[in-house]
Amino acid sequence: MALRNVVLVLLLQFVSCQRPYIVVNGKPSFCKNTLCPSFTVKNSTATYETRQYGPEKWIANDVVEQPLLFPTKKQLFMPLDKYTRRNRIPASSPLLVKSYSKVSNFTMMMYVPKSYTRNLRNRGYVYVTEKQNFTAYVRRSFAGNPNSILRWKYEANELKNALIRDKLTFNHDIFYSAIYSEPWATWASHNEIWFIAK
Ligand SMILES: *[C@@H]1O[C@H](CO)[C@@H](O)[C@H](O)[C@H]1NC(C)=O
Ligand SMILES: *[C@@H]1O[C@H](CO)[C@@H](O)[C@H](O)[C@H]1NC(C)=O
Ligand SMILES: *[C@@H]1O[C@H](CO)[C@@H](O)[C@H](O)[C@H]1NC(C)=O
Repeated sequence: MALRNVVLVLLLQFVSCQRPYIVVNGKPSFCKNTLCPSFTVKNSTATYETRQYGPEKWIANDVVEQPLLFPTKKQLFMPLDKYTRRNRIPASSPLLVKSYSKVSNFTMMMYVPKSYTRNLRNRGYVYVTEKQNFTAYVRRSFAGNPNSILRWKYEANELKNALIRDKLTFNHDIFYSAIYSEPWATWASHNEIWFIAK
């Protein structure tokens, strides 16, 4: 009985479904009560959607050559959290984690809502980065653990294969995990993986 439950939980970890979401006043439902960057959907297939994001600012923090275990996530997140408190930046989403296929470097990025981008300065480990317009191929809305690197890699691989099948050009070596829940959540109904179009 116990074993059967364990097996069921393990299977559910990898059930992917593209859940629909609705957009109200330019805000997708998965952003819940946080501020999040707006985008336009250019195309949509069964496995991913193509999103165009406008120029936005993010605050970022890096680690190099470290495995993404809890202490590393804490090391990435805490300075960003402190920065937002100091600058009175309200809760935003997504929290992005940039992963490389070949090295164990990671960058965590927090979205800075447009009306809070004045006078942003680099402070300590935290730096401000402005992304110009970019197109993201998004494997959207898989339910599961938003903090499982195993799950991210699985979803990233599924997405990468779909994009290759569709002959799209994108940076194969970098993917982003977009987290829309509490940073330490172990389950969330909406998670995303992004590859960036070239
Ligand atoms: C949308 O994606 C489908 C499937 O890859 C493709 O056939 C179609 O050309 C795409 N449309 C646009 C506007 O990119
Ligand atoms: C990863 O970090 C190392 C150490 O700082 C650096 O030399 C390397 O260029 C980084 N790799 C990438 C892909 O950013
Ligand atoms: C970015 O995209 C927006 C809307 O799609 C457009 O108005 C703007 O000119 C673009 N900016 C650049 C730098 O491409």
